[in-house]
Amino acid sequence: MFSLRNKAAIVTGAASGIGAAIAESFARAGARVYVTDCNEAGAEAMARRIEEQGGQARLAVADVTSEAQCQALAARVLSENDDRCDVLVNNAGVGHVGTILTTEPADLERLWQVNLKGAYYLSRAVLPAMIRRRAGSIVNLASIAGVTGMEARFAYVVTKHAVVGLTRAMAMDHGQTGVRINCICPGRVQTPFVDARLKEYGDPADYLKQMVAPHALKRMAQPWEIAAAAVYLASDESAFVTGSAMLVDGGYTAGK
Ligand SMILES: NC(=O)c1ccc[n+]([C@@H]2O[C@H](COP(=O)([O-])OP(=O)(O)OC[C@H]3O[C@@H](n4cnc5c(N)ncnc54)[C@H](O)[C@@H]3O)[C@@H](O)[C@H]2O)c1
Repeated sequence: MFSLRNKAAIVTGAASGIGAAIAESFARAGARVYVTDCNEAGAEAMARRIEEQGGQARLAVADVTSEAQCQALAARVLSENDDRCDVLVNNAGVGHVGTILTTEPADLERLWQVNLKGAYYLSRAVLPAMIRRRAGSIVNLASIAGVTGMEARFAYVVTKHAVVGLTRAMAMDHGQTGVRINCICPGRVQTPFVDARLKEYGDPADYLKQMVAPHALKRMAQPWEIAAAAVYLASDESAFVTGSAMLVDGGYTAGK
């Protein structure tokens, strides 16, 4: 088991799905986790759950599309941890179904704000402190949609490619500072995010079959299988890994 003992970690979108699994896995590995989400009730429940399991959790209600709220969160984490924020996981994300013709400007703007700007704001807010300590790990949640095209996911594909770009650009700019920046590209993961997509289709069972078909493993991932990659990238064991877009995709892209 990779250790995150004594590390202070922000995990966004931690009230649900992959973010919740990352927050729990981080706490189990010894981190003090700032359970960050705009869904206050969900974040509170997750923070309580971690504490009940004997982990260290801090409730942090924040909307990552607000630069002021991201700065306030970073300031709080630094003040409570002796000027340290060891790990930032930019996981909060939203999806949208549509081609360029059916994606309204407001849809694209919403995905851009959450998926890209949220990671941009928080990374900017914690990076100076990471550089001061010459240590830190930023892990972004991209997607297979960040490295391949995907039908009827115009805004999602565009913004997830941007997350991969942000990761690579930051890794090159800050490689000599001791800070590592990586992203994870999951295939389909069984979360409320995917359940919501399934509900939009007339025949969810048939759509589920279509969803798993491109994966070599012929199934979706469970959130903990993505969280395991996040624990590795957050830990000191991944010291030589930066700028990577780590595929955790059940072989989805192997067949592309
Ligand atoms: N589920 C999948 O199949 C899958 C595959 C690849 C990548 N991803 C990515 O993984 C991440 C998590 O996905 P999930 O499936 O766990 O989603 P989810 O919908 O289950 O959870 C997302 C969480 O983000 C929070 N959130 C949304 N907007 C926010 C904001 N502005 N500020 C703060 N919190 C906000 C939500 O409240 C929610 O708790 C996303 O970035 C998603 O794009 C998911």
